[in-house]
Amino acid sequence: MNGEILVLSDPAAVAEEATRRLVALLAERQGERFSLALSGGSTPQRLYRLLSSPPWQAQIDWSRLHIFLADERFLPPDHADSNVRMVRETLVDPLGAALPAANLHPMPTDGTVEASADRYEAELRAFFADGPARFDLIVLGMGPDGHTASLFPGHLHPQDRWVLPVHDSPKPPPTRLSLSLELINQARHALFLVTGADKAEALASLRRRDEPALPAGTVRLAEDGLAWLVDEAAWGGKP
Ligand code: 6PG
Repeated sequence: MNGEILVLSDPAAVAEEATRRLVALLAERQGERFSLALSGGSTPQRLYRLLSSPPWQAQIDWSRLHIFLADERFLPPDHADSNVRMVRETLVDPLGAALPAANLHPMPTDGTVEASADRYEAELRAFFADGPARFDLIVLGMGPDGHTASLFPGHLHPQDRWVLPVHDSPKPPPTRLSLSLELINQARHALFLVTGADKAEALASLRRRDEPALPAGTVRLAEDGLAWLVDEAAWGGKP
C-alpha cells in the first residue's frame, strides 16, 4: 500500500480525522484558491456533515474552496443515487450562502456520457489553465472489489484524459463518469476513507501488494500526500 496508513476505531473517528486534516490543509494555503474533489458513496457522508456543521463550518473560508466531483453516477442531478445530490444535501445546502454557488462544479449528466466527460474535462482545463492541474485534495473511497472513484478492476481506460466515461460498472448504475488515474495522481493530497468489514479483503490484498494491483492501489501521488484513514473493521482488528 502506498502512503501513510492510520487505523482509527470507527467511522466517526475516521470522519473527525479527515475533517481535521482538511482544515489543516486549508490553513497551509491561507488566502489561496483550494480545489477539492469529492467522492460519492456512504463513507464520506460523515465528513461532509461534520464540515458543514458547528464548530467546523465557521473555521473554513468557504469562498476560496472549489468543490469538484471525483466521480458521478450518470443520473439526473436530483436522482436519489446522484453523488452531487448527496454532496448538496450533506455539505452544500447546510452551508447556505457561505459557499458561492459558482464554487460547486457538478459533473454534467445530460446528453451522452462521452460528451459529458468532454465537457467536464474542458471545465477542469479552464479551471487549471493558469497553473499545474493539481487538486489540492481528493477524497476517495474504496469498494469491496478495490475500485476507487469509478475506476473498476479490469476496466481499460484511454491515456491522456482527465475525465473518463465509464460503461459497465459492476456497482450500479452501470454508466458513470470518473476522474482518471492520471489526474488523481497529480493531486497534492489524497485521503482514502475506508470503513467496514466488507473492505477487509481488498485492504488485505493491497497490503500484500497482490498483482494485478486493484485500482485503489494504483493511486500514487508524486509527493508525500497520500493517506489512508481506515477503521478497525476494515483493517481486520486493532493495528
Ligand atoms: C461511488 C463512489 C465509489 C465509492 C466506493 C466506496 O460513486 O459509488 O464514489 O467509488 O467511493 O464505492 O463506497 P462506500 O463509501 O459506500 O463504501
